[in-house]
Amino acid sequence: MNQLPAVPASRMKMLITREQIKRRVAEIGQEITCAFAEQSVVLVGVLKGATIFLSDLARSIELDATFDFFGVSSYADRVRQSGEVRLTKDVDTSLEGRNVILVEDILDTGLTMNYLKNVVMTHQPRSFRIAVLLDKPAHRIQPIDADYLGFTIPDVFVVGYGLDYAEHYRNLQDIYILPPEAFSSG
Ligand code: PRP
Repeated sequence: MNQLPAVPASRMKMLITREQIKRRVAEIGQEITCAFAEQSVVLVGVLKGATIFLSDLARSIELDATFDFFGVSSYADRVRQSGEVRLTKDVDTSLEGRNVILVEDILDTGLTMNYLKNVVMTHQPRSFRIAVLLDKPAHRIQPIDADYLGFTIPDVFVVGYGLDYAEHYRNLQDIYILPPEAFSSG
């Protein structure tokens, strides 16, 4: 079955180029390398969007680094300024006494990150940091800040570099703004 997305990348406006991403990810990797010199870190990604950022970030960190992953399903109620997050996959390893860096592609309402922060804290890590590629503060419901941030973006729907619309576009190398017709044509 051929299920192509309604709008191809060639008809979308690019917001952040692969070169900008590469440069910023290298800078964040360098910051983490310096902050945790001579120590190990565990990079905990949130499926699925964070996988591309995590894989590039991991290769720019010159430390012993292991990976683990959370899976979540979430529902945000922007009218009531609330929402619900549910864990669909827990980490496979104990995070106790570890330098944990939670890695996300995007901070939007903040519900997912706040929820996962609480989950990680119950493990009693040695340290806890948040690394996020994109911050979209316009819809924040619960306050939270990233320790390592790639880019702050306006209130637009973005795809590419891990970010999807209906599971499409995750493998694009640049980050694009999804135009309104992509939503209306399903
Ligand atoms: C996105 C993103 C974060 C979450 C952030 O995940 O990857 O996990 O939303 O939003 P929040 O700040 O409003 O909680 P999504 O549900 O799109 O799943 P995906 O990672 O599989 O794309």
